[in-house]
Amino acid sequence: MTGASGGIGSALVELLRERGDEVIPVTRQPEKLAWAAPRLVVADLARPETIAAAVAALGAARLDGLVHCAGVIGLGSVADTTAQSWAQQLTVNLAGPAELTRAVLPALRAGRGHVIFLNFWVGPLAKPGWSAYAASKFGLRALADALRGEEERYGVTVSSIYPGCVATELQRSVREGFGVAYEPEAYIQPATVARLILTTLDMPSDARLTDLTVGMAPAARHG
Ligand SMILES: NC(=O)c1ccc[n+]([C@@H]2O[C@H](COP(=O)([O-])OP(=O)(O)OC[C@H]3O[C@@H](n4cnc5c(N)ncnc54)[C@H](OP(=O)(O)O)[C@@H]3O)[C@@H](O)[C@H]2O)c1
Repeated sequence: MTGASGGIGSALVELLRERGDEVIPVTRQPEKLAWAAPRLVVADLARPETIAAAVAALGAARLDGLVHCAGVIGLGSVADTTAQSWAQQLTVNLAGPAELTRAVLPALRAGRGHVIFLNFWVGPLAKPGWSAYAASKFGLRALADALRGEEERYGVTVSSIYPGCVATELQRSVREGFGVAYEPEAYIQPATVARLILTTLDMPSDARLTDLTVGMAPAARHG
């Protein structure tokens, strides 16, 4: 999985390890994930061209799943969003996950595995200020949909999960960007999203959860 050091990712790691699953993080900062050594993939999603070699070094022949929990956000109007910010968000949130998926597909096919993409509940239209992040996530949906159609013949399942606001560092940076208070208790908790990811991974073979939207409960929104 990617994003194992993040808010949602670390909550998922806890659940998976609690029940005895082996978790292999894909991380640019292995020192943060000492528990996983030496079974981790050191790779920066901002440099997709390095990912295939890093995956090959792991030598995993069979995988049950690939969970994409990494992500970056950089909000701002189109007038203010630099080429660097566009490139970073489109690469880390979209091109990197595409390349990682490609690199592990043989092992996922061998394990009849499940690919999960953490998307974002944005609706059909991107709001002002969200262009680059929303573009990366709209693209991620296209990646997931195409992959699902291509890989079902190999027994690979693909799901996208679309949470609203989750109480993590990413959400803190969104709030700071808008100059409003970060109120973690008012948002969806990372452990809740982690449980939903687990439920999606564990679906019995007679059914598929392909797209799962996870909104905030009114009580959470209004305190
Ligand atoms: N929080 C929300 O409100 C929310 C809502 C909907 C969807 N999401 C999505 O959920 C996913 C997880 O978000 P989160 O809220 O848990 O974020 P987070 O706490 O900020 O964690 C982000 C994770 O992404 C990793 N990452 C960032 N840049 C990377 C790179 N270049 N290469 C490899 N890994 C990189 C970070 O690793 P390092 O430790 O190396 O920095 C970290 O593990 C993201 O895709 C996000 O878009 C979040």
